[in-house]
Amino acid sequence: MQSVRNLFRGPWSSPVRLDGKTVIITGANTGIGKETARDLAKRGARVIMACRDVEKGEVAMDEIMQDSGSKDIVLSKLDLSDTKSIREFAELINKEEKQVDILINNAGIMMCPYSKTIDGFEMQFGVNHLGHFLLTYLLIDLIKKSAPARIINVSSMAHTWGPIRLDDINHEKSYDSKKAYGQSKLANILCTRLMAKKLEGTGVTTYALHPGVVQSELWRHLSAPAQLGVKMIKPFTKTSVQGAQTSIYCAVAPELEKTTGGYYSDCAPASCSQAARDDEMAQKLWELSCQMLGITWD
Ligand SMILES: NC(=O)c1ccc[n+]([C@@H]2O[C@H](COP(=O)([O-])OP(=O)(O)OC[C@H]3O[C@@H](n4cnc5c(N)ncnc54)[C@H](OP(=O)(O)O)[C@@H]3O)[C@@H](O)[C@H]2O)c1
Repeated sequence: MQSVRNLFRGPWSSPVRLDGKTVIITGANTGIGKETARDLAKRGARVIMACRDVEKGEVAMDEIMQDSGSKDIVLSKLDLSDTKSIREFAELINKEEKQVDILINNAGIMMCPYSKTIDGFEMQFGVNHLGHFLLTYLLIDLIKKSAPARIINVSSMAHTWGPIRLDDINHEKSYDSKKAYGQSKLANILCTRLMAKKLEGTGVTTYALHPGVVQSELWRHLSAPAQLGVKMIKPFTKTSVQGAQTSIYCAVAPELEKTTGGYYSDCAPASCSQAARDDEMAQKLWELSCQMLGITWD
């Protein structure tokens, strides 16, 4: 939704340039990710669009190239529901790129019918949390070498919808698509906070954010009446351009350079739930995520 604060103070904007910087944005072929890519390309960044649907990605990339005048945009295949695809993408980046200054973990799936990723993880937890967690792990050395660098996790106010079910993380005993989405978005914030602590002193800072309620393709799995409801509240929601602003703010705002582990909304610090500030749960989730992915990340 449009916040009252925004109505009074006007939209955030910044002239910061990103010439010489490299940015990776997951899910950049549509919605918030595409508008984030467009903005950062206009600021002079080399933009790597990490997309599952390469055909759709090519159309988006051509449009952004024409609009921004930038030729320094790369499209690369990344399916976050398949750890093999994540590993192949990361291998390519580690081989081809000299630096990754900004990683924006934006891709997401919401309230889909029950399904599992190739590796057997519940789809929303697998894509929204585990896929990005593994991607970040595989790129972390390059990101550290590029410091000062930023890792941005696009979460949601929906992090309040579901607890982390440590005893049934894949929702095999019972599935509620809303709670499962909430779990994945809560995981984003918990890991953003813990990652900030683990990265202390490296020059790499982390940010989690809620983009607002945004008109995008995210609602595709909702029932027809629910989709109609979303259309009816359209005047009170954000466009994808407006929805991208908090991601852009976290990526470029100079005043955030020394700040890490926070949660943002409407281009400003915001409060997340108590569950999202549970450091003990963050540690347990981190360990479980490593175990599920077969990685060691201390
Ligand atoms: N829209 C909102 O109101 C809202 C509110 C709070 C938070 N968010 C968060 O904002 C982020 C962006 O969402 P959006 O609103 O822009 O939604 P969107 O228009 O549906 O875009 C989602 C993007 O994620 C990609 N994606 C989905 N599954 C993927 C996978 N397995 N591997 C790689 N990419 C995958 C999609 O690719 P395809 O085109 O191939 O499907 C698409 O590019 C999400 O993390 C979402 O949870 C959105």
